[in-house]
Amino acid sequence: MSDLTRTGRTAAVIPAAGRGVRLGPGAPKALRTISGTPMLIHAVRAMAAARAVSLVVVVAPPDGAPEVKHLLDAHALPERTDYLVVPGGETRQESVRRGLDALPDAVTTVLVHDAARPLVPVDTVDGVIEAVRDGSPAVVPALPVADTVKQVEPRAKGEPEPVTATPERALLRAVQTPQGFDRDTLVRAHEAFAAVSGDGATDDAGMVERLGAPVVVVPGHEEAFKVTRPLDLVLAEAVLARRRANDGF
Ligand code: CTP
Ligand code: MG
Repeated sequence: MSDLTRTGRTAAVIPAAGRGVRLGPGAPKALRTISGTPMLIHAVRAMAAARAVSLVVVVAPPDGAPEVKHLLDAHALPERTDYLVVPGGETRQESVRRGLDALPDAVTTVLVHDAARPLVPVDTVDGVIEAVRDGSPAVVPALPVADTVKQVEPRAKGEPEPVTATPERALLRAVQTPQGFDRDTLVRAHEAFAAVSGDGATDDAGMVERLGAPVVVVPGHEEAFKVTRPLDLVLAEAVLARRRANDGF
């Protein structure tokens, strides 16, 4: 507990305001269910499972905040965990910024976690928090990549694309969430790059890198995959079925 006092509170910001275009027609992605429970609720529980997390800020679809509040009220969270709901923005970057704006002063460590990664194990979350508390201002869970990755000159859909580079696979990592930050560092990064147009940053740690602050990678987990396309929902159902079979949960 003395450690907690020294480092201040840890909060998780969960951007959940995306439409889920790649998942296909239906409810906003975060509200789609896996094993009967909305993806967002799985994601909130995954953050609340970490003992250090005392506040969860959910960034809801712009017109969906009342529905999300209602959902959170209806699903039990651990008693030690408070939650807040704020409306999201046009891009993930804007949604995260709105979540950061809602944080109380006492919060010094922030996790940013995609609602679309509902099944991240608590050990991964704890590992990220620990690395921030050990002094890294930005921490990213990641896995080695399985595929070789090519850099190309993009062309119109279907046209052959010239290859410009093949980065050495052993040096590459595929990054996941929750990403963990010293609060002031992340806020500074969002202030510095607020004007970015288009889709904005897809990754908060990338903004911290552009500030020139150090970013480190810690081990991610294959169950922290992002639900993006329809097949990912099949995988998520399978992971939950395996967990139930393994520990009766
Ligand atoms: N997100 C957000 N606000 C946005 C866009 C995305 O809060 N304006 C969130 C999503 O809800 C998701 C996370 O950012 O939890 C990662 O984004 P992604 O997987 O791309 O989700 P969507 O943008 O919803 O999906 P798509 O790109 O297929 O529409
Ligand atoms: Mg998106």
